[in-house]
Amino acid sequence: MDFADQVVLVTGASAGIGEAIAELLAGRGARLALSGRNQDNLKKVGEKCRALRGSDVLEIVADLATDEGVEKTAKDTIDHFGRLDVLINNAGVGARTCLLHDPDMSAFDRVFRTNVRAVYQLTRLLAPRLVETRGNIVNISSVSGSMPSVGSLPYSMTKAALDQFTRCIALELAPLGVRVNAISPGITRSTFVQRLTDYTPEQYAAWLAEAGRGVPLGRAAEAREVAALVAAAAARGASSLTGAVIPVDGGLSLAGAGRSDIMTRQMK
Ligand SMILES: NC(=O)c1ccc[n+]([C@@H]2O[C@H](COP(=O)([O-])OP(=O)(O)OC[C@H]3O[C@@H](n4cnc5c(N)ncnc54)[C@H](OP(=O)(O)O)[C@@H]3O)[C@@H](O)[C@H]2O)c1
Repeated sequence: MDFADQVVLVTGASAGIGEAIAELLAGRGARLALSGRNQDNLKKVGEKCRALRGSDVLEIVADLATDEGVEKTAKDTIDHFGRLDVLINNAGVGARTCLLHDPDMSAFDRVFRTNVRAVYQLTRLLAPRLVETRGNIVNISSVSGSMPSVGSLPYSMTKAALDQFTRCIALELAPLGVRVNAISPGITRSTFVQRLTDYTPEQYAAWLAEAGRGVPLGRAAEAREVAALVAAAAARGASSLTGAVIPVDGGLSLAGAGRSDIMTRQMK
């Protein structure tokens, strides 16, 4: 699974799962465009990636919740590298416990703008470049997209939309030689939950341990475990894999509907 000389754009690379994907691919020789909003974090990840295998790394500070941010991310990538082999749509946000009767639409708009609209638009802008390289796309979805639960309403809807986006464009782009897949994490250590809560690091560790006990494998996943699946799906060797939505969740999705509330029930 060598990515030497391949150009890979990882959105949301300044933290969590995106950071782990960036580091893994840097170690395998990829030339990386890394996007995020937090300039300091993005710079730190970029420096780690450069140290790993001397990769060519471009940091793009942009807000993907805006059209300008999406356009800048696509343009800067192509201006710098002149090509794209792999697009990893990883950036995403959650919504704190969210119910139908909540008084306004702000959480709905925020998660749909980032998790769906930005992915659609960025993919639309960059698909012609992936056709040129016969490249591929990996979308980072969530088990929430297929496991209904009370409290994660708009977020779950965005991930269900992303799963179907994956399948639809896999069909559309297959004749053009571009593969499209999604990786669906379950409960994974990152900064995702801390952005939605006021947890101290200790409280987050306790939440993660408790939530992990509800996972068949008995623990939350590490971001690097998700990254390993992303790399496997993006690798040239996975040349027949397309339209797949692959869980990497310790078996959480096998536990069935009604169990995914472990992701939200304590997040008060
Ligand atoms: N952690 C989990 O348990 C879990 C489970 C299932 C699925 N996922 C999915 O995995 C993906 C990565 O999540 P994570 O757990 O790594 O979360 P995270 O630690 O919170 O990282 C999220 C990343 O997305 C970026 N991002 C968010 N909004 C953005 C925007 N508007 N513009 C540009 N970048 C933006 C963040 O950048 P800045 O910090 O620079 O703003 C950060 O780099 C998401 O799609 C999430 O839905 C996570």
